[in-house]
Amino acid sequence: MPDSSNEVPVITLDGPGGSGKGTISMRLARELGWNFLDSGALYRLVALAAMNRGIEPNNETALAELATGLDVSFPMQGEDMQYLLDGEDVSEALRSEAVSAFSSRVASLPQVRKALVARQRAFRTAPGLVADGRDMGTVIFPDAGLKIFLTASVEERAQRRYKQLKEKGESVNLSRLFRDIEKRDERDRTRKVAPLVPAEDAVTIDSTRLSIDEVMAAIHDLI
Ligand code: C5P
Repeated sequence: MPDSSNEVPVITLDGPGGSGKGTISMRLARELGWNFLDSGALYRLVALAAMNRGIEPNNETALAELATGLDVSFPMQGEDMQYLLDGEDVSEALRSEAVSAFSSRVASLPQVRKALVARQRAFRTAPGLVADGRDMGTVIFPDAGLKIFLTASVEERAQRRYKQLKEKGESVNLSRLFRDIEKRDERDRTRKVAPLVPAEDAVTIDSTRLSIDEVMAAIHDLI
């Protein structure tokens, strides 16, 4: 991998929500014995903290301040990562549709993104890092040795999310999920800072018709 020799190696996985990035990058990190950065969780944690404190999603200064001082940690609990906000386990709350929507708005604010840069780069420690997000290969780790852009059709991503929520016992409406995903994609793709686009040197994998094992095999071929 062409990482500069004095740097810790990084593999970035960017792409829209529901493309399988989360599962794949977590598995890859485990297989390689590398650290894992779930950068979306940082935006979700800012969103959740803001919702708890009654901060509006357009209050950029207050949100950036919140992002700077955020007290978060990600201890592993067996195979799963736990998400702690102010020492409290918020892993469940973080995945709600309300937090998804709020986090996508928060993520479009330049000051919030800036406030989270150093925090994300701090995850790059030996022996290596697998980084999952939207701008890992373009902005946060532009010198990563391998950059993957994972996509899937909106229909497929809505179906996956639908199944996930159903399994958790949440009542969901598939066409509404479809619309929400389209809206979130549009906002992520067209925002002024760090839009959701593949890095020029990224390899794109379309997971619409692939199983997790098939995507993992494709990534191992690239490594
Ligand atoms: O990946 P996840 O769905 O958890 O991300 C939540 C939100 O955070 C996304 O809608 C996206 O707007 C934002 N995000 C981002 N940049 C990242 C990771 C996530 O803007 N690197």
